[in-house]
Amino acid sequence: MNETTIPHLTSTAAALLTESDAARIRAIRSRRWVLYPRAKQALDRLGVLLDHPRGTRMPSISIYGDSGMGKTMIMKQFRDKNPPSFDSRTGVLKTPVLAMEMTSRPGERRFYGELLAQLGAPQRPRADIAQMEQAALRIMEAIGVQVLVIDEVHNILAGTYREQRIVLNTLRFLSNRLQISLVCFGVNEAREAIGGDVQLARRFEQLTLSRWEANEQFEILVASILRNTPLRHPSVLTPKALRRILQITDGITANIFYMLSYLAIEAIENGSEQITDNVVEAWEPTFEAETAYA
Ligand SMILES: Nc1ncnc2c1ncn2[C@@H]1O[C@H](COP(=O)(O)OP(=O)(O)OP(=O)(O)O)[C@@H](O)[C@H]1O
Ligand SMILES: [Mg+2]
Repeated sequence: MNETTIPHLTSTAAALLTESDAARIRAIRSRRWVLYPRAKQALDRLGVLLDHPRGTRMPSISIYGDSGMGKTMIMKQFRDKNPPSFDSRTGVLKTPVLAMEMTSRPGERRFYGELLAQLGAPQRPRADIAQMEQAALRIMEAIGVQVLVIDEVHNILAGTYREQRIVLNTLRFLSNRLQISLVCFGVNEAREAIGGDVQLARRFEQLTLSRWEANEQFEILVASILRNTPLRHPSVLTPKALRRILQITDGITANIFYMLSYLAIEAIENGSEQITDNVVEAWEPTFEAETAYA
């Protein structure tokens, strides 16, 4: 099948039309990544950090948004787009982007423990903090980390005031010492966490993934998802149906993906091969526990 004959789909989605219904349903269920403009903007901003020359005050970015707004997806995409690569000049494997999760209870030891685990260098349980710090610095320098990405940064707030200060100090120390940029992802309260260190907070440019509203951005998100959904007929939704989607999903990215995937699978199963205003109107929200966000 020629992809130019299917203008309503991306070439990848169009290619799936030759496959069985079961294969198409599987493809929808296992959908990994859909690029939409707001995610692209965020990724472009993050990309700039990799071009920034090393210096004493490296620019950093924090990305905030409610649960389910797609933060971790953007983080993984950024990491996967900048994978380790072999530097033939030095013979060293370079890892420009290192991603980790802030431990659920912050503390220097736990933080370094997690960082070292991500570096593939887990430590003996009784290693002291100074040794862990030295090991982390040495490895990060050796593999050329340029950006340290930390997800779930709001976990900092779970610590005592003192623990919070220590973790923030550690972040500032790593950024200064290694001349690397930091990227932090978290729910909106995380702003407060980083704000606890004024000097650190000043380096952060903030991006917010706010809930979707009835505007062009949202229309483009829906269009992007539909273009990646292998249905035989184009789905044309009116503004009324779009508003209904917003209402049902609370404007949460995860719920929007879930709802459209669900309706698309139904459209394959019942042979209608498109999502219509009518099915949107009739849809009863059935967010499963693991996919329900709000
Ligand atoms: N760009 C995308 N492409 C495909 N699916 C997406 C995308 N963004 C979000 N989703 C869907 O939304 C779900 C939630 O996204 P994600 O885990 O990134 O949210 P989050 O903001 O990290 O939430 P939390 O704060 O709870 O960790 C994903 O599991 C996926 O199903
Ligand atoms: Mg997440």
